[in-house]
Amino acid sequence: MKQEYIVALDQGTTSSRALLVDLNGRIAGMKQKEFKQYFPEPGWVEHDPEEIISSQIEVLKDLISDRQIHPDQIKTIGITNQRETVVVWNKLTGKPIYNAIVWQDSRTASICESLKNQGLSDYVSENTGLLIDSYFSGTKIRWILDNVEGAREEAEAGNLCFGTIDTWLIQRLTIQQQHLTDLTNASRTMLFNIRDLCWDSKLFEALEIPKSMAPEVLPSAAHFGDIEIDGKPIPVMGIAGDQQAALFGQGCFTAGEAKNTYGTGCFMLMNTGKKIKRSKNGLITTIAWGLDNEVYYALEGSIFVAGAAVQWLRDELKFFEDAAESEPIALELKKENPVYVVPAFAGLGAPYWDMYARGAIFGLTRDTGIPHITRATLDSLAYQTRDILDAMQKDAQTELTELKVDGGASSNNYLMQFQADILNNEVIRHQSVESTALGAASLAAYASGIWTLEEIRELKTIERVFTPNMSHEQRSKRYTGWKKAVGRSRQWLE
Ligand code: G3P
Repeated sequence: MKQEYIVALDQGTTSSRALLVDLNGRIAGMKQKEFKQYFPEPGWVEHDPEEIISSQIEVLKDLISDRQIHPDQIKTIGITNQRETVVVWNKLTGKPIYNAIVWQDSRTASICESLKNQGLSDYVSENTGLLIDSYFSGTKIRWILDNVEGAREEAEAGNLCFGTIDTWLIQRLTIQQQHLTDLTNASRTMLFNIRDLCWDSKLFEALEIPKSMAPEVLPSAAHFGDIEIDGKPIPVMGIAGDQQAALFGQGCFTAGEAKNTYGTGCFMLMNTGKKIKRSKNGLITTIAWGLDNEVYYALEGSIFVAGAAVQWLRDELKFFEDAAESEPIALELKKENPVYVVPAFAGLGAPYWDMYARGAIFGLTRDTGIPHITRATLDSLAYQTRDILDAMQKDAQTELTELKVDGGASSNNYLMQFQADILNNEVIRHQSVESTALGAASLAAYASGIWTLEEIRELKTIERVFTPNMSHEQRSKRYTGWKKAVGRSRQWLE
């Protein structure tokens, strides 16, 4: 009998990917295509929604034809996506009225200020689990309605709709073309009430967004429509934002379990079970997934720039051609590195939430070179993770003894060792660092009755454990230096 598969579509911030997962949870094939990032003004980040679709279709087609897969071999499809990024399109023509405004885009800082001035901070945090920040979709939708000619009139006439990227993909890739999202993506808009599990009328009013623009919200394991592959409709049975998908893919099903994903940004999520846990330390509360008529929540620490900082070294500073070279370059340094890089290119996320921070390099001396700045950039991923882990431990009132990691930059051994050192915790890396795609595939497989939660948990095998190997004095000296550097990169644009 021919091998059977699950397909995962992973629409990320810098690339679209399609992955073939076999029924043992192994990645049997992967296609990836990077797409263009638009930076029309400082602090603005946009994507072309059509390119998102065309790149996603291209990788799916390539995957199927390369591996010579017959559509009968594909049981189901799971979708995962960059979160918060939002598209507004015309219901009648299906055409976007503006580029996708990306999660990293901070153009709506002033809209956020006005929401704060209206006294909405507590309301937003109590009802959406988030805090008022340009990171989330709501103010981006408002910006489009205010700035694209004729948009507001069209929206008020009921002709426009919005969607996070999952919604945009479902609209364009499925036969049914329904206007749907899942609970995890809805919880990132700053418009969704995570207690009552519905769109929040008060926030739609405050942001002057007609409620008719919002998609219907389904659980994460549900039937979202069918994608036709070589003439056969294949059901899309699972959707989750990429960080929630990674939590699911890591098998963190029990309250207290956490993972950290080093992608474009870096996101640590801790499952808090069916209870909404509020952070007192700068984290946000989000929906982990909706499954079997139950909703599970997570605490999240969102770091905006992680792998993107290494890309910046590669693409803007031209330090190397391949991000993987950062590891040997960092290891060239034999002495202590006095340099700190604060990659606050898009402001700072958790736990600082400073839309006005900007990137900075500190500690330059005449002998500073590429290895120093490269190493300091990698170190910044680890320091930011420590900021988050400290906050999470305070909120959860427990000590995490290990950290499960995944995502592209978790393959960097220098970084993972430094991470273990600066946390003074074990860092656990699994054989496959593709937890996000595996999570999307797992959700779809779970909803289709292919895998149980127990089976999903058993899909992972540990590849390497990084054990801390730094003195207490050294750790504390270095982390104190980081805190000073962060302090100096903050608020100066306001
Ligand atoms: O919240 C933004 C996040 O979903 C982006 O993920 O994988 O592109 O860093 P990634």
